[in-house]
Amino acid sequence: MTQTLLLLPGDGIGPEVIAQARRVAEQVAPDITLTEGLVGGAAIDAGGTPLSNETLEKARTSDAVLLGAVGGPKWANVERIHRPEMGLLNLRKELDVFANLRPAYCFEALVDASSLKRDRVEGLDLMIVRELTSGVYFGEPRGVDTDENGIRRGYDTSIYTAPEIERVTRIAFEIARGRDGRICSVDKSNVMESGHFWRTEVTALHEAGGSGVELTHMLADACAMELVRNPKQFDVILADNLFGDLLSDEAAMLTGSIGMLPSASLGGEGVAGLFEPVHGSAPDIAGKGLANPCAAILSLEMALRWSLGRPDAADRVMAAVSKALKEGARTSDLGGSMSTQEMADAIIAGL
Ligand code: IPM
Ligand code: MG
Repeated sequence: MTQTLLLLPGDGIGPEVIAQARRVAEQVAPDITLTEGLVGGAAIDAGGTPLSNETLEKARTSDAVLLGAVGGPKWANVERIHRPEMGLLNLRKELDVFANLRPAYCFEALVDASSLKRDRVEGLDLMIVRELTSGVYFGEPRGVDTDENGIRRGYDTSIYTAPEIERVTRIAFEIARGRDGRICSVDKSNVMESGHFWRTEVTALHEAGGSGVELTHMLADACAMELVRNPKQFDVILADNLFGDLLSDEAAMLTGSIGMLPSASLGGEGVAGLFEPVHGSAPDIAGKGLANPCAAILSLEMALRWSLGRPDAADRVMAAVSKALKEGARTSDLGGSMSTQEMADAIIAGL
């Protein structure tokens, strides 16, 4: 049976970088059927909703989904529930891809592009496992209203159930076993009830035995500091939805550019994985051919590895990116002057 990969270019630089990832996919896995769909602002413009049933159905029946980016100033003033970002959040929720893997590794060739000194980032290789379908992103109640005293207020709810913590922790255990076997779980257990609960549940699961990994805990603010002080101390960082969002942007900068970082969002057995660059739609450079296609191409690499069962093709992509960087291929975010297409050309030449 042929496999299908659904491409959802989305908004801003999304279409530019996904077009390059498509070229790479056609080279390394020509037998995979590529289909396309609309999400985010592009879907709003076409049909009034950021995630149509049609796109959702396509995603459900695909073997993997590769998404570019969503959002932009054009849709900044529409009501929150109709914003492009809701297309992405609903897609994550509907596919139930609860475990978001955000690797931060520093390619040797980019060590000097990092905002940190060489000795801090050389050889850096860490993985953030972010819970993706619960927590404050989805908790109820939420809203903006006026209380009984006539005072206006805005609020969200940070809530986690035991099964939600358990399932993402199990994935983190599994990921850590395939790496250096060390997990640092992050929370604000000193302040938040849900944070205290998170730590208790993760600890209990670990104490139940059999995980084969070493577990430590860190407060989220301390982790933010340690990530720039001594990032190489980490192997796997396990975090809830909100802290994982923040820490992964921070970790991205250690690697030279957020334009380098891919992500994989995985669910249960038989669920299509969702793969996306960590960078956003970057409306300021959209349409100018300046975007770095590496994060999208490396997201394809993760799709090949984690959902499509093609480790050989994934290895080829990884080696080609590494080779292109070594030979000096650089987009402007990396201090070079190559266009999006030229950067992809350099990678494709090395496949
Ligand atoms: C990310 C992004 C998204 C998030 C936005 C675009 C909704 O920042 O994937 O990290 O907050 O999860
Ligand atoms: Mg983010």
